[in-house]
Amino acid sequence: MDNLENIVKPVIEYTKKNVRPKRFQHIENVVTLSHKLALALNLNPIEAIVSGYLHDSLKEEKSSNLIAIAKQYKMPLSDIDLANGHLLHGPVASLVAKSKFNILNKDVLDAIAYHTLGHKAMCNMAKVVFLSDCLEEDRDINYTYPIWISLLNLGKSNKKKFTKKFISNLNFNDYQLNVDKAILTACNQNIKYLIVENKIIHPQSIEARNYYLAKCLNLN
Ligand SMILES: [Fe+2]
Ligand SMILES: [Fe+2]
Repeated sequence: MDNLENIVKPVIEYTKKNVRPKRFQHIENVVTLSHKLALALNLNPIEAIVSGYLHDSLKEEKSSNLIAIAKQYKMPLSDIDLANGHLLHGPVASLVAKSKFNILNKDVLDAIAYHTLGHKAMCNMAKVVFLSDCLEEDRDINYTYPIWISLLNLGKSNKKKFTKKFISNLNFNDYQLNVDKAILTACNQNIKYLIVENKIIHPQSIEARNYYLAKCLNLN
């Protein structure tokens, strides 16, 4: 399937019937931001729309079902994956995207698969969807503010300035976007949250965080 434009409508319908309205609103917010970021970074906007709609299409699937589907597709599963099946909603959605919608575009498949845990050496589309999932307009500004500061390459700013309206009116062309630094900050924010909540940290998240740390420090 080369022409992703033809599957946008069925992809939207598929996702809409799989999730509750509140989740669908989150998904639409992610699509809005990933589309805007893709344009600013000269990436294919249709890839961003398709990846955005599919990223949480299986988020409300039971863990046991996600594990069963992953096994059907012979996906290698670690003990952490088996104990935290919900973390498979991205990788499994990526497998389903390939088989159900015949999506063969690796950037789109990776963007869907890696949106939750991140991954070392993500393609640009995966970075866009990962960041859009973290930064969509309904996220708490206390969580998103450090990520915005990194992405927009601002030394310091005023958190109060970052209202929903300010964020939705941002013109990314006015900024020197630092995507890798934003990924590192988002990984740090996510890991900090997991520590505070006493939740397990998947090794893939740690690997991604260390990769982007080294990249930002010019170590790799
Ligand atoms: Fe997700
Ligand atoms: Fe999401």
